[in-house]
Amino acid sequence: MGKYIGKEMSRVDGIAKVTGTAKYSAEFQLKNMAYGYIVQSTIAKGQITKIDTSEAEKQPGVLKVYTHLNTPKSKSNDGFVALQSDRIFFNGQPIAFVVAETFEQARYAAQLVKAEYKAEKSETDMLKATSIKQARSEKTRGNPQKAFEESPVKVTAEYIIPIEHHNPLEPHAAIAYWEGDNLTIFVKTQGVKQMQAHLAESFGLEKEKIHVICPFVGGAFGSALNPQYYPFLAAVASKELNRPVKVAYTRRQMFTGHGYRPYTWQKVSIGATKDGKLQAIIHEAITNSSSFEDFTETPNSFGRSLYNCPNYDTPYKIAKLDLPTPTWMRAPGMVSGAFALESALDELAYELKIDPLELRLINYAETDPETGRPFSSKALRECYLKGASMFGWEKRKFEPRSMRDGRWLVGWGMATGIWGAFMLPASVKITYKADNTATVESATADIGPGTYTTITIISAEFLGLPPERIKFSLGDSKMPDAPMQGGSFTTASVGTAAYGAALQIKKKLLSLASDMLPDTNPENVEMSEGFLRLKSDPSKAVSIAEIMKKHGLSEITEVYTATPSSERQKYRTLAHGAQFVEVKVDEDLGIIKVTRVVETTACGKIVNPKTSHSQEMGGVVWGIGMALQEVTEIDHRYGKMITTDLATYHFPVNADIHEITTEFIEEEDKIVNPLGIKGMGELCMVGIPAAVANAVFHATGKRIRELPITPEKIFG
Ligand code: MOS
Repeated sequence: MGKYIGKEMSRVDGIAKVTGTAKYSAEFQLKNMAYGYIVQSTIAKGQITKIDTSEAEKQPGVLKVYTHLNTPKSKSNDGFVALQSDRIFFNGQPIAFVVAETFEQARYAAQLVKAEYKAEKSETDMLKATSIKQARSEKTRGNPQKAFEESPVKVTAEYIIPIEHHNPLEPHAAIAYWEGDNLTIFVKTQGVKQMQAHLAESFGLEKEKIHVICPFVGGAFGSALNPQYYPFLAAVASKELNRPVKVAYTRRQMFTGHGYRPYTWQKVSIGATKDGKLQAIIHEAITNSSSFEDFTETPNSFGRSLYNCPNYDTPYKIAKLDLPTPTWMRAPGMVSGAFALESALDELAYELKIDPLELRLINYAETDPETGRPFSSKALRECYLKGASMFGWEKRKFEPRSMRDGRWLVGWGMATGIWGAFMLPASVKITYKADNTATVESATADIGPGTYTTITIISAEFLGLPPERIKFSLGDSKMPDAPMQGGSFTTASVGTAAYGAALQIKKKLLSLASDMLPDTNPENVEMSEGFLRLKSDPSKAVSIAEIMKKHGLSEITEVYTATPSSERQKYRTLAHGAQFVEVKVDEDLGIIKVTRVVETTACGKIVNPKTSHSQEMGGVVWGIGMALQEVTEIDHRYGKMITTDLATYHFPVNADIHEITTEFIEEEDKIVNPLGIKGMGELCMVGIPAAVANAVFHATGKRIRELPITPEKIFG
């Protein structure tokens, strides 16, 4: 543990957020703003034959109505671009954009836009899809089919996960304005640099002419990774009307405007010996995409590194449907894959009559079965054992329906979580001032995990300043390059860059202080409370203010770019966790309560235990929602998503959530990056849906293979 790293710290942006001074994209106020409203298609596939905007255009306050007939063409063909042709690809597709003096005027006029279509038969049911294509093929390990057939014990089962939506509280929104051919846009995004590149390409401009600003994001979970269609619309209208234009999705528009977790069908076949050694795993997956893009994720890939199993196959296909394109949603792919794989392992445990935790320990992978490489670190065994002891797993009776609490059936289930310990190149700029304050900048995002705080802590640690003397800013495309916030790689990437930039500052100061300290080797000197101080003899110190004064400086600035080391290639870099879940089930009413969750996580160094704990809690809650509540229903007659509001799309409320205990098993890992940081924001939900389903089986004897596990599946 450092002076600040590893200690609990409240969010540096917490007060701004709870007092409303943190500004979200739609909240910036500009003079002479106009407001846009999106009109959407009512068919899922076909062609617009006529679009009549005359009534809408006559309404008071209306400035312009954009359709495919009068919208400038985007120069980008990356993703779905609105109003570019008469083709309809999905129900809810934007077909017009009404801009008016006020939001109310735009919304009213939007209802008066009349479209006629030549509709074609749409396909939105993945289980009946006729257009299925190969998505990716990984090398088959061994001979899985033969090994499966020859295995003395076999299980095969199919699993289904419906479409789910992110539902961040903050709707997607943008405010755009131009000064000459320079565009400034306040826009909800997980990556200001990616948004900048997208808009630069759309308008055929240099990146430097596009300024993207997004200091705060009210939740995104993957929904703001891709630029989506609305920033382009705001920018187009703003350019033509020569005034700022704001657009925000309505809650309903959120369901067709930013992607979703795809519908996922999986079939898992596992062959094992009678003493539980895995012989073969064939994990097939199909996820849906749209007719116009091939979105793929990795539902079955990570499993290949999870257990010792000599024969493994992971065929993956996508089904082309008349729906918007899916996107990444928290723990994309792996949480879906883990639901199938970790449920199937539980099924195997019951075939074998081996405790589900024991089965996982029997097949524990000491080195990566996929590449043969060592893990850079892996404390999964410790997670299993610590979690089991915290939960009281040894008191579990093996047989389903064997534990009760009055009229409630009690079930205990467990599962494993896995995620990559990713790192991407990232840059951080630090300006250290003579008054011993510092500003730190990087074009990263904080969509909620606590990046403002984490990067402040890391900077404080290595600049030797209390965190309150550091001001970390993010979310502006003028800042040094950073990857979008996704994949749980932000702290590892940007945190390493902050560490590197702080070291650069120290080196710079040491070069200026060569005659002021007996030893100016950076290894032997630390920055501490405004001094450069010898580690071996703290009495030997020189004041940083003095160094700067001597050289007539008021501040020094360094930019550092951290890149993943080549050393990483020699290892497999993953993060792991174990989840233990208790459910209580009322079989007559179909009610399931998740009464207890213990989650143990091994994801390297924990920079801030407080926000890390919050992330884990959030992941568990999300996993419970996925297991028991979340589904975007589609009316296939119209190809229309219908549970498109927060009343009919269910996710957990406080009353659904009971005891959650989280524990980190820290790993020392100098391979992943110098600070040993792995991500956790997605890992923490990976095993939960399977653990809940396994607990439901243990309680009731019913194996439910289609999420969410709603009451009718229990008493049915
Ligand atoms: Mo996350 S789904 O990579 O925002």
